[in-house]
Amino acid sequence: MHTYRPSEGHGLKHNPFASIIAPRPIGWISSKDALGNVNLAPYSFFNAFNYTPPIIGFSSVGYKDTVSNISETGEFCWNFVSQSLAIKMNQTSKAVASECDEFELAGLTKKPSSEISVPHVQESPVVMECKKSQIVQLSSAAGETVESYMVLGEVVCVHIHQDMIKDGVFDLLKADPVLRAGGQGDYFTLSAQHMFEMIRPQS
Ligand SMILES: Cc1cc2nc3c(=O)[nH]c(=O)nc-3n(C[C@H](O)[C@H](O)[C@H](O)COP(=O)(O)O)c2cc1C
Repeated sequence: MHTYRPSEGHGLKHNPFASIIAPRPIGWISSKDALGNVNLAPYSFFNAFNYTPPIIGFSSVGYKDTVSNISETGEFCWNFVSQSLAIKMNQTSKAVASECDEFELAGLTKKPSSEISVPHVQESPVVMECKKSQIVQLSSAAGETVESYMVLGEVVCVHIHQDMIKDGVFDLLKADPVLRAGGQGDYFTLSAQHMFEMIRPQS
């Protein structure tokens, strides 16, 4: 076994952490500051955390614009990243001034949301409109605060493009998600041959 304590380094060519906990869905988050500046950025420390009410969240390493905006306005949208949107998603990760609108930077269309004032990506096949429930600053096991912030939000409205619904079931393969792996620029896609079904044991 290659065993290491993260506090003392991993001893490999590349840090394996983000390659092991992978692939991860991408939280492509649109938000808006109190002055109305719109922002869009990808976060792969992203997942779903509850069914009822549905809660999703992401973690920002540093107090980035997205966190600051959601702290100010209490709203954000999650935009699904399809393969066809991968390059544009990547463009929106550029470190730019908070006044810079990443929708314009990447040539994406802003679509008004139904329940919140933050627009979403019209080109995305699935969008979840969210209201902030918590922003948690992370801390170490020793109780020291870490400069990372976990943002959680309740999903108040979901939009799914009709083309992604087959016989009443959401077709994830059709939506063609981009998934983040490790390394500097590794990603995965999904394919039918990699899918299998396993039903939970009855209690
Ligand atoms: C695929 C991808 C995933 C990313 N995931 C994260 C993440 O989980 N946490 C983070 O802090 N930054 C992440 N980043 C970097 C941010 O997108 C980048 O710092 C961005 O400029 C933040 O924008 P903002 O300041 O407008 O919020 C990721 C970038 C890419 C391309």
